[in-house]
Amino acid sequence: MKKKIFSGVQPTGNLHLGNYLGAIKNFVSLQKENDCIYCVVDLHAITVKQDPKELNQNTLETTATFLAAGLDYKKSIIFNQSSVSAHAEFAWVLNCVSRIGWMNRMTQFKEKAGSNKENASIGLYVYPNLMAADILLYDASHVPVGEDQKQHLEITRDIAQKFNNDFNCKNFLIVPEPLIQKEFSRIMSLKDGKKKMSKSDASEQSRINLSDDKDTIANKIKRAKTDSLPLPGKKSELSSRPELENLMNMYSSLSNNKLENVINDFQGKNFAFLKDKLTEILIEKICPIGEEIKKLLNDATYLNQVLKEGSEKAHSIASSKIEKVYDKVGFLKLKN
Ligand code: AMP
Ligand code: TRP
Repeated sequence: MKKKIFSGVQPTGNLHLGNYLGAIKNFVSLQKENDCIYCVVDLHAITVKQDPKELNQNTLETTATFLAAGLDYKKSIIFNQSSVSAHAEFAWVLNCVSRIGWMNRMTQFKEKAGSNKENASIGLYVYPNLMAADILLYDASHVPVGEDQKQHLEITRDIAQKFNNDFNCKNFLIVPEPLIQKEFSRIMSLKDGKKKMSKSDASEQSRINLSDDKDTIANKIKRAKTDSLPLPGKKSELSSRPELENLMNMYSSLSNNKLENVINDFQGKNFAFLKDKLTEILIEKICPIGEEIKKLLNDATYLNQVLKEGSEKAHSIASSKIEKVYDKVGFLKLKN
């Protein structure tokens, strides 16, 4: 049966291999057989300080990345969140359904707010309610995300259930399922196999950006952290060697080959061999995406058109749902 898919990516610049293997690659394979909506979540981006010019550019860049990775805007709906006002409207309603106690458990808030919580934006605190609004507006049945977003999906489910209870409308909001890939759900830093690859890491060497050229990729992989043991023959031996596990996961995902097979192929070889092979496949799979992103960014008119078409389609679904939400809540609908 066809699934209704919704997912979002923040336009915060420089998408990396973790975003690609953890999320976007999966978006592309899902679009073949399902109804998919992919959103550039600019409202979420401003929960931390953004430079307005950069936010504008990054919105185009994330859109270009979606297209370059293989999303088809005629098949899937691609749009930016702020262009459909129902997201902000529904988020307000959900702010009033969701509980402070639930927000207080969110690990992403704790991580992003850091030591100075009093100074974090209120938007950052209620970020999960806006994310729930995104998903529930479109009756999404499945939400593909990286493992770090699992907690937000659980809150979305709680919010949907509470709304349905509070307003006595069983099954009105659809309780969505997360779609988290079992393998390579977390791509780790090249410098520390226990830390996730992230755009907020100060070291450029910790990540492969989708815009990196051949030489940059080769150099980063060459300098990636390793150990000195030969490559093992069993999956169980990987858990004590997180850096090796990470590189093998990358290779497995990029080559669309099971981790077990990759381990078999590389058994007994040394790290340099794995790094050479990984560099080769990264250049083959990632460089064309980077080049396509650059090309698309030269055509802002086209990107604008893609988002415009997507926004119109998204608006027609979202506006009909928000109207029903307002009705459930009891807002007076004015007559003409
Ligand atoms: P963000 O850039 O934080 O909006 O993330 C966009 C998507 O990429 C989300 O689904 C994340 O779960 C996913 N993601 C981000 N970093 C990683 C990583 N290191 N490994 C796997 N998935 C990731
Ligand atoms: N919070 C997600 C992230 O940081 C982005 C996001 C916003 C999202 N709204 C969403 C993901 C709805 C899935 C569905 O990665």
